[in-house]
Amino acid sequence: MNKLTKLSTLVFTLISLLATTTMTSVVHADKGYAKYDGNGKLVRPTGYREWIYIGAPLTPNDMNNGKAAFPEFHNVYIDPLSWKHWKKTGEFRNGTVIVKELVSVATKSSSSGNGYFMGDYIGLEAVVKDSKRFPASSQHWGFFRFTTDDHKTLLSTSRVMKQESCAACHSANAKQDMIFLQHYPVLRAAKGLGEKGIGGK
Ligand code: HEC
Repeated sequence: MNKLTKLSTLVFTLISLLATTTMTSVVHADKGYAKYDGNGKLVRPTGYREWIYIGAPLTPNDMNNGKAAFPEFHNVYIDPLSWKHWKKTGEFRNGTVIVKELVSVATKSSSSGNGYFMGDYIGLEAVVKDSKRFPASSQHWGFFRFTTDDHKTLLSTSRVMKQESCAACHSANAKQDMIFLQHYPVLRAAKGLGEKGIGGK
């Protein structure tokens, strides 16, 4: 192969690679972030630590008689498509996925003072809004739990949880459309404000 042929082969390969990557992300974006198996169970979302972080409530065991329902820190993320929609409209679009990743308290003191400091990942819960799959009684949200009893591994799929286990408490107490907006400063600051609400502006 002479130099010119080598160069054109390289350029061609690069262009094909780029085309494939773009196509994949377009397909992904169209479908949204919720995937189900053949039995209608939600497949555990992946990659969510690169979604939009919206807040970190903390319900430590030692402030809840040693037994918090969702122990320790909750790192909460919304998928990027639904974040875009939220910024524009201040509403959760059909297809919204919000995950809550549980993190243990590793230590209660550091050089900055006494407090709660994050340890390891110990669980994952998710909510998905889908007007076709989930009933109006839960405002079209499905609730899912991937956390295992030993908090060491995660389930790969979850069936939708019963209304009384999850949705009832959200329905009674959450600020907007079953979601605890009151605990998510990132969402509150951006609600319908577009780029004005993304920080530092
Ligand atoms: C007793 C009330 C209560 C019950 C029952 C409950 N939750 Fe929540 N949930 C909350 C509160 C309060 C928050 C926000 C603050 C926090 O995380 O502590 C929350 C937040 C969440 C979030 C983050 C998005 C949001 O809506 O704010 C997810 C996901 C979630 N819960 C899933 C579940 C699942 C799955 C179940 C059932 C297994 C469940 N919850 C049961 C009170 C509840």
